[in-house]
Amino acid sequence: MTDAKKKTDGVKLKDIANLCKRRGFIFQDSEIYGGIGSVWDYGPLGVELKKNVKDQWWKSMVYERTDVEGLDAAIIMNPETWKASGHVTSFADLLVDCKECKKRFRVDKLEGKECPECGGKLTEPRSFNLMFKTQVGSVEGQAQDVYLRPETAQGIFVNFENILNTSRRKIPFGVAQIGKAFRNEITTGNFTFRSREFEQMELEFFVKPGEDEKWYEYWLGERMNWYLSLGIKTENLRLRRHSDEELAHYAKRCHDIEYLFPMGWSELEGIANRTDYDLKKHSEISGRDLAYFDAATEERYTPYVIEPSGGIDRTVLAFLVDAYNVETVRDRKRVFLSFDHRLAPIKVAILPLLKNRPEIVEMAHRIRDDLKGNYRVVYDDTAAIGRLYRRQDEIGTPFCVTVDVESLSDGKVTVRYRDTMEQERVDSSGLREVIEQKMGSRDG
Ligand code: GAP
Repeated sequence: MTDAKKKTDGVKLKDIANLCKRRGFIFQDSEIYGGIGSVWDYGPLGVELKKNVKDQWWKSMVYERTDVEGLDAAIIMNPETWKASGHVTSFADLLVDCKECKKRFRVDKLEGKECPECGGKLTEPRSFNLMFKTQVGSVEGQAQDVYLRPETAQGIFVNFENILNTSRRKIPFGVAQIGKAFRNEITTGNFTFRSREFEQMELEFFVKPGEDEKWYEYWLGERMNWYLSLGIKTENLRLRRHSDEELAHYAKRCHDIEYLFPMGWSELEGIANRTDYDLKKHSEISGRDLAYFDAATEERYTPYVIEPSGGIDRTVLAFLVDAYNVETVRDRKRVFLSFDHRLAPIKVAILPLLKNRPEIVEMAHRIRDDLKGNYRVVYDDTAAIGRLYRRQDEIGTPFCVTVDVESLSDGKVTVRYRDTMEQERVDSSGLREVIEQKMGSRDG
């Protein structure tokens, strides 16, 4: 492709948000009512992409290992949980209000600047808790105040004993969980990057005190590799160590895995050494001793916890940004998402060259029906072939299969590859094999 000019940098979040809306990846939540701030819905393509990200995380954290169990804890927990975890007292942002325009700002984001919007005077800083409160129970006056969880991690800590007893695990071992979390964020914007309802993928890995530093280093490497193995470009990923002032109330050490988003380097995932903070606090407040007894050495100790905690929405956004390509082919602009095959929402599109030839349409339908089952396969005949290719390129479909007049006599179809636009004639009876073989490797 000699006349193709690639332009991958310089992509704006606006371009990604437009594509997401137009093609059905991500919509503003309850849009017909004007939406609601920083809450998003994943459309037909978004739900596939997000599911693929989650599946890849679960595969690498649970299925490919022998030392991790899974969990799906509830969003609503006994509110004592959040007293013990420190979230009731410490999970807050310091805010100031502008007396003129009434806008609200996070003190840590102002960085000594004057009020950035209108130059008005600011109020004294006030603390604002980020947890959403609601009530459980229907009897008036007796309803209990509860919170929507701001992190999935606590569901793992309060189940530590249950999991230990039922799985007969020995330290070191981990518990993985994927689920929704909620934060009443003050500074929003940047599309889905900072949402009020979002999903986390968290691992709490329990280790013997003294072995925590070794495991911490290990998880930094594992998690960086996960993003790279799914195609994130090395130059767009980095590790940043938290300064002492930045550390969360529970953490001894923390690194962020950051991605170079259009708005600059921003956090994708935090990897923290949470020490024995959570298990000790839950032991103290619940009265249940959550220490671990090592039968081999006859030692009793409260495990330390290494926590890689990723945000699914941010990861999905990073994969979208990283995969976004614009090139000029014979004076025409081509946009394509070069997703790793494992992440692509639709794997194969079957496209008939002529939709008014019933035999071609029938053959195309038959090929679609043969291929479907384990991944998304679509059939589209609503435009000319060039247009159909562009549509699939823009949503990152790695394989297009075209059925033409010759296919009827020789049984062969054309497979066209998204990134290179190269085409290959293959026997339709061996199509599944060709596609699944290419799907196993990144450069098909
Ligand atoms: N259990 C540790 C914990 O929750 P965190 O750094 O507050 O740590 C972990 O959150 C990850 O969750 C972040 O790295 C980010 O990817 C994601 N996350 C946090 N707040 C978010 C928000 N408002 N919108 C989208 N993702 C968010």
